Amino acid sequence: MNPSQSFSADSPADPVAAATHADPYPYYAELRADPPLVWNETLRVWVASRADVIESLLLAHVALRVRPAAEPVPRAILGSPAGEVFGHLVRMNDGTAHQAHRPALQRALAGLDLDTVHSAALQVARCVTAPSMSDALFSMPIRAVAHLLGFADEALPQIDRWMRDFVACLSPLSSADQLQAASVAANELMARFDTLAAGTQPRHGSLLAAVLAESDASAPLTRSLLANLVGLLSQTCDATAGLLGNSLIAVMREPSLREAARTRVGLQAVVEETARHDPSVQNTRRFCVEPISIAGTTLAAGDAVLLVLAAANRDPAFNPDPDRFTLVRARRRMLGFGHGVHACPGQALACTLAAAGLEALLSRAPDFDAMRERGWSYRPSANARIPVFH
Ligand code: HEM
Repeated sequence: MNPSQSFSADSPADPVAAATHADPYPYYAELRADPPLVWNETLRVWVASRADVIESLLLAHVALRVRPAAEPVPRAILGSPAGEVFGHLVRMNDGTAHQAHRPALQRALAGLDLDTVHSAALQVARCVTAPSMSDALFSMPIRAVAHLLGFADEALPQIDRWMRDFVACLSPLSSADQLQAASVAANELMARFDTLAAGTQPRHGSLLAAVLAESDASAPLTRSLLANLVGLLSQTCDATAGLLGNSLIAVMREPSLREAARTRVGLQAVVEETARHDPSVQNTRRFCVEPISIAGTTLAAGDAVLLVLAAANRDPAFNPDPDRFTLVRARRRMLGFGHGVHACPGQALACTLAAAGLEALLSRAPDFDAMRERGWSYRPSANARIPVFH
């Protein structure tokens, strides 16, 4: 552990607390040595940490769903504008609702030219004048995706603020005030996307134009598609901020990476190894709707499973010498972007955004010694690992 970090080196209390712990990886190794699925009575979930078991769970998408059957939208936001958006997101749905927009989003994202994305993201990142490094981690990727979607430069700071408010509705840790602000933001974002998509001609070559072109052209623009456009920004927000921040920590910790970080290829490698070694999305959940047997354990309808993706990335059966941070790996494997039908369609975009953001941050010549001295902690979260620099 980095001695400059200002938190305890004690083992995390449980696999959820591990996501924001200073160094959860020895604890994850202990979890992997346990049986493939272990019941955690405190969290009331089954815990999976080995890569092969997590892959099997993520492939069993008929029995294991992304939301509990009895609560498709969290009770705290049900009936609110934030709840409406949440209820439409492909990330939060299975079956027909998942199928409705997923292919269009997937094709539009796959069609992005990553060189163009990189130049645009770098330009946007260089213009970000966030109050702190920790804020810039969010603003750089959010504004870049808003730009790619087709928003005008002058709209980017406001979209950024609304998105930061909106994502509070995705976390079980948010207060009533935060959920209220998330609903205000949901209304505003839906209205802005409506104007952008329907009111005027979407900018040629934009990600928005691509999503619309890949969607059913004869159908009217639905609230559901609008919500999923908002979803592209919300999926970017915390996860890419964490990837960018954790990549910066990797460079700060290991001076030899600074040479590699002078080139775009090197920056990309730092980001991709960080996504494996210290991923921003540490865990995800599944909810059992019918009995299923996985790795010798039978899960019953109603059971919840916590899939510790970050532990799987360091499974030696998945990646040789997994604790080593190394820029060149014959076959880098990771589950931090999911797997199976809900796998992230934004992986390549996210890594490009983080590489551009890292380049912009490093060009500001941060004082790494002073940063290490002051240390950092992680934002409160049940699943994301996003640093806050002190
Ligand atoms: C470092 C950044 C990112 C990480 C670590 C990440 C990770 C993930 C993970 C783990 C899932 C699947 C969750 C599950 O199955 O439980 C997911 C889904 C998704 N991600 Fe990402 N993501 C990132 C960035 C992005 C970006 C930039 C976009 C698009 C702009 C995006 C769009 C999506 C969408 C639409 C889904 C839902 C897919 C589906 O359910 O079919 N993500 N992401």
